[in-house]
Amino acid sequence: MDAIRILGGVPLTGEIVIGGAKNAALPLMAASILTGEPLTLINMPELVDISTMSNLLRQHGARIDQSALAPGSSEAGPTGRSMTLTADRITNVTAPYDLVRRMRAGFFVLGPLLARMGEAKVSLPGGCAIGTRGVDLHLMALEMLGAKITVKEGYVYASVAGGRLKGAKVTFPKVTVGGTENLLMAAALADGDTILENAAREPEISNLADCLNAMGAEVTGIGSGTLHVRGKKTLHGARVAVIPDRIETGTYAMAAAITRGRIVLKGTQIELLESVFNALRQAGVSIEPTADGVIVAAENGLRGIDVITEPFPGFPTDLQAQWMALMATASGASMITETIFENRFMHVPELRRFGVDVNVHGASAIVRGPAKMSGAPVMATDLRASSSLILGGLAAEGETVVNRIYHLDRGYERLEEKLGACGARIERIVGA
Ligand code: EPZ
Repeated sequence: MDAIRILGGVPLTGEIVIGGAKNAALPLMAASILTGEPLTLINMPELVDISTMSNLLRQHGARIDQSALAPGSSEAGPTGRSMTLTADRITNVTAPYDLVRRMRAGFFVLGPLLARMGEAKVSLPGGCAIGTRGVDLHLMALEMLGAKITVKEGYVYASVAGGRLKGAKVTFPKVTVGGTENLLMAAALADGDTILENAAREPEISNLADCLNAMGAEVTGIGSGTLHVRGKKTLHGARVAVIPDRIETGTYAMAAAITRGRIVLKGTQIELLESVFNALRQAGVSIEPTADGVIVAAENGLRGIDVITEPFPGFPTDLQAQWMALMATASGASMITETIFENRFMHVPELRRFGVDVNVHGASAIVRGPAKMSGAPVMATDLRASSSLILGGLAAEGETVVNRIYHLDRGYERLEEKLGACGARIERIVGA
């Protein structure tokens, strides 16, 4: 298993190009099942989760072509990578355990398979390190569209009488990103209109809704908590750009801040994470928007700021662990409250290994800074916890080894290279 070694204490300066958003790309890839025509996605990130999703879609019968274009050209987006997915023949409606257990986003194929084929058998994703993460709301919503669902032997068996889902009014009792995405895709091929209330408003949802519209669906209310979907009998191919990764953006913004450096983040949009940039500004970080991104710089004198994770446009849970690392270097106390997942503080004992003063009380953690952080061997437990430990290692004096970094490769593309180009002393130890 690979590890990452860091010699910390270097202020980072330079430029980082932000990739396409993993959490936008995954549902967009699943949307390819809704049509027999090619769906081309541009500005694709290159990540393990994207390969897992490609494998899943291939075994449903999709063909996938990837191409490299000139990065930064209008055709290619900042990453220069595109992917064309063609699901002209669905040969298999089963999403197997072995692929879905590796990545919850595999569950996104349920709505599209059911809507196009009238049936699907999809493995339950199972729990994960950050919480129980049920799929009851996905199933409830599809049942309201007429699906008959049974769960046995670890699989969801879904079918619809007459082969076509029927539009309905669905009110989610709790905001769910994945549930909203699964339902949106299903509703796009359903018979009649669907109204989705208390829908998630994350930018990744808007990216998907725009994609569905480009494929011929009629989704309105995009960006609000109420989405209207007029279902179509068939959808067609389209060409759609993946939005920039707001979590990668926030992570590198915090890398600049935690090392008291200055990083130019290119190919991103500051509007995707206003809550985070507001918190950074309050903490004393300088944020300067540019035409295609933002410049983030910090000097000593950061202040502790409280944050509460919330659905968009609130502070994202996917940046909570990184924020905690940053707050360890700020003066005063910072209270960090996690409201989305019940078990997303596993980075706490690892951050303590750097000398961080942090205590957890229920859903809140209190960090008292500034800590004099020293490098340590630490263990990554999930994707975003991993990046918080990388930030800790960049700030700490001396050597840090972050073990079990396979989580990191699911969501951060060429992280060592991007940070290394800004002066970080960071290397991957293969097979550590
Ligand atoms: C998405 O997960 C993201 N994943 C997560 O990113 C992100 O943390 C999360 O949204 C919240 O923003 C992808 O987009 C692939 P939810 P998702 O459904 O869709 C509960 C990362 O690090 N819930 O909005 O699974 C659930 O347990 C990952 O990139 C139910 O109870 O999140 C959680 O407490 C991690 N029943 C809350 O709702 C359901 O049927 C929000 O989950 C569905 C969800």
